[in-house]
Amino acid sequence: MNRKQDIRERLTNARQRTLRMLDEIPPEFLTRRVHDFYSPVGWHFGHIARTEEYWVCRALRDPLRDEALGFLFADLPTNPKENRANLPLKEKIVDYMRDTREHSLRALEAQDLNVHDPLLADGFAWEFAFQHECQHQETITELQCLIQREIGPQERPEPHIWVQGIKPQMSDVVAGTFVMGTDWQHAYDNEKPAHEVTVAPFKIGRSPVTAFEWSEFIKDRGYETDSLWSENGRAWRDEEKATRPEYWHVDDGGHFIYGPTGLRAIHPDEPVASVSWHEAQAFAQWRGARLPTEEERELIAHGASPRTVAPREGPDPVSATDGVGELLACIWEWTCSPFMPYHGFEAFPYDGYSLTHMDGRHYVCRGGSWATSAPILRPTFRNWYLPGYRQGFLGLRLAADN
Ligand SMILES: [Fe+2]
Repeated sequence: MNRKQDIRERLTNARQRTLRMLDEIPPEFLTRRVHDFYSPVGWHFGHIARTEEYWVCRALRDPLRDEALGFLFADLPTNPKENRANLPLKEKIVDYMRDTREHSLRALEAQDLNVHDPLLADGFAWEFAFQHECQHQETITELQCLIQREIGPQERPEPHIWVQGIKPQMSDVVAGTFVMGTDWQHAYDNEKPAHEVTVAPFKIGRSPVTAFEWSEFIKDRGYETDSLWSENGRAWRDEEKATRPEYWHVDDGGHFIYGPTGLRAIHPDEPVASVSWHEAQAFAQWRGARLPTEEERELIAHGASPRTVAPREGPDPVSATDGVGELLACIWEWTCSPFMPYHGFEAFPYDGYSLTHMDGRHYVCRGGSWATSAPILRPTFRNWYLPGYRQGFLGLRLAADN
């Protein structure tokens, strides 16, 4: 298959899934903000189209064809989230998605990709738009969970029995030198350049921390034990009145959580999710362990194959393995590393994707979740959030010095 055909097919497949997701959203929720952190879900669909249009037009030095929609769907400080609820009707958003896509594919057809211009070479702008669309599919899944929470339980699912979970175990990892990051042209700027890193021996959890383990932390008054929390962590906990993962619903009958299609029972062995970096740090303290560094987490991820690449309704329970498992496509895992540039980093194609977040305040997550689209599942992929953020599919894996 030639390069253009490959790009076209992947864009088309991604778009089919995006449109299926759009049809799953109850229409009354398209313009509604269900959480302070998020834009209304309808905005994301226009934003996917606008981003593709913007980078293709920029690569071709063409003006945007619809300035007004181009601004409405831009993720810019001048267009804050509270301004994004005033959306056109769904049909108009779908028209905009179709028009911009047709323009983009016509431009791809006409363009020579064997050129030096970095926005055009090997179809960079289209590849960037493709990965961006995949990323927003996960954000849309997060919003689907929040919408289900807003709708409330339609029926009560059968709870899982929570008497015991799998026994947490650690594996030894020997010291080693490996190539961290990548020089792959279509990787994000923050993954580059590839560089050698030497890691001292360490221990790493064979699986992410499970929901059952987290319930033991709660039972042991982990949230109330000040000594487990940093000063900032305590301030965050008190402000948020955090007593358990944000999306848990616990009653006498069991543990439940909202998934993209409604309330479901939490399996005791599934990875805990929707915990902040502060909570993850306190949990690690409680267990006498620590969060892995980003280097350690990438070292073990190289060579890992995702257990499944298709996004699904929720995480599978983790399994007891001989080695280290569930490294990709299970849950995003917090590391103890702030999101910083690698030596030789160059912001591309713009500062706003990575550089503006490299301020020492954001922490890196690795691995990808059950809701992450396949092209993002790579060992070098870096995700990052502020330490108080816990609305994504975020969990943790423990590490310790050896
Ligand atoms: Fe975006």
